[in-house]
Amino acid sequence: MKILYFTSTGNNLYIAQNLGGELLSIPQLVNDNIFDIEDDVVGIVFPVYYATSPKMLREYLKKVNIAADYLFLIASYGSDGDQNALRIMTKTLEKRGMAVYYTNSVLMVDNYLPMFDMAKEKEIKDENDILNAINIIKDDILMKKEFKLSKKMFTNVPFIEKVLESTMSKKFKIVVGEDCSNCKLCVKVCPRGNIELTEEKPVLGDNCEFCLGCVHHCKNNVLNLNQEANPDERYINPNIKVSEIIKSNNVG
Ligand SMILES: Cc1cc2nc3c(=O)[nH]c(=O)nc-3n(C[C@H](O)[C@H](O)[C@H](O)COP(=O)(O)O)c2cc1C
Repeated sequence: MKILYFTSTGNNLYIAQNLGGELLSIPQLVNDNIFDIEDDVVGIVFPVYYATSPKMLREYLKKVNIAADYLFLIASYGSDGDQNALRIMTKTLEKRGMAVYYTNSVLMVDNYLPMFDMAKEKEIKDENDILNAINIIKDDILMKKEFKLSKKMFTNVPFIEKVLESTMSKKFKIVVGEDCSNCKLCVKVCPRGNIELTEEKPVLGDNCEFCLGCVHHCKNNVLNLNQEANPDERYINPNIKVSEIIKSNNVG
């Protein structure tokens, strides 16, 4: 089994690790120009962004050729939009001739800092519930169960992908403050290689995924958002090492 995953704060790597198999990070696949994936069982594990999937994954799905007997999709999400995202992804793959047999989702900490307080999120999202949900999915996959979540949230896909996403990215901005310790973590966790350190300060380019990995990982709170639910709290999945996120995302 091969699992393709995208992560910024570790939730999806945690799911992928628990499901097992060979793990392939999507930023690394993109960086290495690998678009042919073959195995008996192939899965894609991803975070829901604005009721769809991250831009990098949507772009990857337009090019990837997956040869598998059983293809599944798992979304991690924090509040809503999981079924809509899974529906869009399934349609994209099926349009390109790849049948999807199973889709499911796992409710985890919502890492969207503009709207969610990480302190509250960590309190209400129960680790045991999360692991139980993953274990149920793992059993389903072992049995090659056929099942799909596909409730529509928005009928108009271009609306979400163009209007909602771009409205939000205009409204919420990553702001660079003072006292950078030059640890380069932001550079290393960025899945698009979009951050450089210039004069010992992070400088963001114009190819941001808005995954917020850099903000969550910034130890000195140098990277923040112009509007946040709680600027004092950040989130990294407690079961995942920062080195594992770097290995997944560092394309520099
Ligand atoms: C830009 C952005 C948009 C998001 N949009 C949604 C959303 O529409 N619905 C939702 O339930 N969660 C949303 N989330 C939360 C993530 O899907 C969730 O926290 C996910 O588990 C993060 O996975 P990761 O730790 O592997 O990066 C969003 C997060 C980000 C950064």
